[in-house]
Amino acid sequence: MLGNLKPQAPDKILSLMAEYKADTRQGKVDLGVGVYKDPEGVTPIMRAVKKAEQRILETQNTKAYTGLAGTQEYRDAMAGLVLENAPADRLASVATVGGTGAVRQGLELVRMANPDAVVHVSDPTWPNHLSILKFMGQAFVEYPYFDNATRGVDFDAMLAAIGKAKKGDVVLLHGCCHNPTGANPDAGQWDDIAASLEKTGAVPLIDLAYQGFGDGLDADAAATRMLASRLPEVLIAASCSKNFGVYRERTGILMALGEGSEARDLTQGAMAYLNRQNYSFPPDHGARIVSTILDDAELRQDWKTELEEMRRTMLDLRKQLAEELRNLGGNDNFDFIEHHRGMFSRLGATAEQVAKMKEDSGIYMVGDSRLNIAGLNNDSVPVLARAIVEAGV
Ligand code: LMR
Repeated sequence: MLGNLKPQAPDKILSLMAEYKADTRQGKVDLGVGVYKDPEGVTPIMRAVKKAEQRILETQNTKAYTGLAGTQEYRDAMAGLVLENAPADRLASVATVGGTGAVRQGLELVRMANPDAVVHVSDPTWPNHLSILKFMGQAFVEYPYFDNATRGVDFDAMLAAIGKAKKGDVVLLHGCCHNPTGANPDAGQWDDIAASLEKTGAVPLIDLAYQGFGDGLDADAAATRMLASRLPEVLIAASCSKNFGVYRERTGILMALGEGSEARDLTQGAMAYLNRQNYSFPPDHGARIVSTILDDAELRQDWKTELEEMRRTMLDLRKQLAEELRNLGGNDNFDFIEHHRGMFSRLGATAEQVAKMKEDSGIYMVGDSRLNIAGLNNDSVPVLARAIVEAGV
């Protein structure tokens, strides 16, 4: 039986991680997988996370099962963080195995609710979105998103395409810090997206994996909150991997806003059922860390301070890189790096240019020229800038 299995194409982000590890060159630079790194190249455990873990270690007296939806504390804390004033009469939520688990469970929910739904997904998007959609056999179409000339959002094309969605279709949106491009709609454009969804009756599935990495915790949730207040139905897949730095704990949440308490109860039941079918109880440790932090004024403040430091570090690196490229090239062709938000920027380089940067300078970025800004530091910014110019990007 097992001999019938077909080899699977490796995930391009994860295989790049392995390739980087195997490279023995000094001075190699990892701008691949989306993991925050400090200037020493270490992905730190945040101070508040350490303290919360200590507290859990000292006070936890059982490892018995929680609930299929996870703990109420975690779900309430996350609803507050993402939605601020979460409408309790409309909100169903379940803890999930990371943000990826939330996306997967969200799509499973869509399949249960409307087997005819078509999922509209940005071109480009996080490769795993497409991989999950294909694996599930879920119908999807791509909408244009990135303008390779300006390296901004090709908004007219995007709006025209999502305007073709049908009632009951799903439009997958990145709530902030678009992965892989770093280019995001502005507030006025988000309003237009809301108006389009109001008109078509399509439901947004918002992937919110980088809240706090772009313009700040509230600013990064603004589009999600606006859509939640305007539209009758909204799905949100949020991740704590990045903003709490708890990547390996697999901490995510799927939230669904429906039309009133009856729909909420049905949705809550369906989402708990989906958890049961796929993995029963969601992991608790990361969720408990998150709710411990968010429910404690001191830990919450410390976490926010450290997150803000990380965000500012990334913004500084963006500025430095854009400036270095301005000086080297004598033009403002790369100023878009400063305007992009979040961990990533898509450079707009060809696959050959990406390969050349890897071969000549040991710089690893995803083949579509997505670079992880947080993988840079003061020393590697000039190395990258020179490599970009030498590769003729
Ligand atoms: C990324 O895009 O690099 C991250 O979201 C990590 C992953 O799982 O791909």
